[in-house]
Amino acid sequence: MTTTNGFPEGFYWGGATAANQVEGAWLEDGKGVSTLDMYTGGSLHQKRRITLELDSEERYPTHEAIDFYHHYKEDIKLFAEMGFKMFRLSINWTRIFPNGDEKEPNEAGLEFYDRVFEELQKYGIEPLVTIAHYEFPFHLSKTINGWASREMIDHYVRYSEVLFNRYKDIVKYWIPFNEMNCLTLSQKAYQAGGIIYDESGELINLTKDNAELRFQALHHQFIANALIVKKGREINPDFQFGSMITHLTFYPLTCNPADIILATREMQMKVYYCADVLHRGKYPSYADHFFKEEGITIKKEAGDDLLLKENTVDYCSFSYYMSVCVSADPNQEQTGGNLLGGVKNPYLVESEWKWQIDPIGLRYTLHTLNDRYQVPLMIVENGLGASDERNEDGEIHDDYRIDYFKSHLSEMKQAIKEGVPLIAYTSWACIDSVSLGTGEMKKRYGFIYVDKQDDGTGSMKRIKKKSFDWYKQVIKTNGADI
Ligand code: BG6
Repeated sequence: MTTTNGFPEGFYWGGATAANQVEGAWLEDGKGVSTLDMYTGGSLHQKRRITLELDSEERYPTHEAIDFYHHYKEDIKLFAEMGFKMFRLSINWTRIFPNGDEKEPNEAGLEFYDRVFEELQKYGIEPLVTIAHYEFPFHLSKTINGWASREMIDHYVRYSEVLFNRYKDIVKYWIPFNEMNCLTLSQKAYQAGGIIYDESGELINLTKDNAELRFQALHHQFIANALIVKKGREINPDFQFGSMITHLTFYPLTCNPADIILATREMQMKVYYCADVLHRGKYPSYADHFFKEEGITIKKEAGDDLLLKENTVDYCSFSYYMSVCVSADPNQEQTGGNLLGGVKNPYLVESEWKWQIDPIGLRYTLHTLNDRYQVPLMIVENGLGASDERNEDGEIHDDYRIDYFKSHLSEMKQAIKEGVPLIAYTSWACIDSVSLGTGEMKKRYGFIYVDKQDDGTGSMKRIKKKSFDWYKQVIKTNGADI
């Protein structure tokens, strides 16, 4: 790779969002209800919950979000001003197929994305498209329990084909599923499968668990992934498909071999499992053992194994926010984290939301993924959630965010120097948006502040934070000052 100032020439600097967290306009132009539209707001101490009907006492943060649906021109203009080369967005499935099971797509929904892509093209920004960032049709959650049902595959393939045919000359990079490995992570992760009922038909509501259901849902996603990779390559052989996992990064707390083996086992089933299947085209042997131990049987159909084998992905993408430790000693102090906490690391500090900040862990992650898959890598989410305050002049001096990015970018640069083929970095989220985990606006990630508060008030005005100009300079110089 030819580099300038330590980063590859043509490096995809940019930012990322997800439809459910930014778009709002939840029922506009024929959009249907997404499963996440039925999740209430929450906080660090209060879990979000799903309701089958709207509860007038609750707030539903996705309904309005930051109204990207009506502000996309202004927002993309700001991304262009920062110099973005790539913008990661997701398509809201329910704009295209409101209930998920229609035969024909909703033209008005497609037209919205036509306009978004047109705007990106105007500024020469490459789109990176997530086909499903948890925006599953609620109708399919209610009627077939989302990805717990194999029937979901047909609906997803039909939806993807519409996107491929419509955007074959506009979009090259596709992420079929956001953070697939969430479904390996106990009861917290049902949002990733659109699964709302347990085996007895009771609402799951992030309190119960059924591991067999989760892993069966994942098998359906693996098959759906393989089918659309196959179909996509028929439509445009230049399409590039990526795995996308949340890289949680488990360290052994000590050099006690019992801690080391524990960390290895945690990494296998909670982090690598999905990417292993997608890149290697088969279930890893450690998974067979895990299923036997847990009494889990995955129902496969004839032809599934061959499909996986023949339709592996091209690049590996991941989100990276934090790391935790694991210990064979159950009495260690715990910390929080993205989806999952773990044992506290005495060498790291925590963010306000109790996520341990670990820039070197990013370099470690880049090396391990490169060693494992030997394909181009993309960091498609990385950033700091903080409760930014405006000063008396209305400005946001988010030096802590600049520090967070500086330290992570510096480790990226070092990793590239050490031989890692990193081709893209899309920070999360380039503009303030609804937090997935807590449903809060208060947990802000952006370079751009949005005047929208948790009680629903706010003018929706976009304000550049101090980090806006800092990132602009990074992109302009291809990271010269990092
Ligand atoms: C990732 C998700 O897990 O973490 C994003 O892909 C999410 O959708 C991000 O927003 C940060 O998590 P949170 O809970 O702070 O929004």
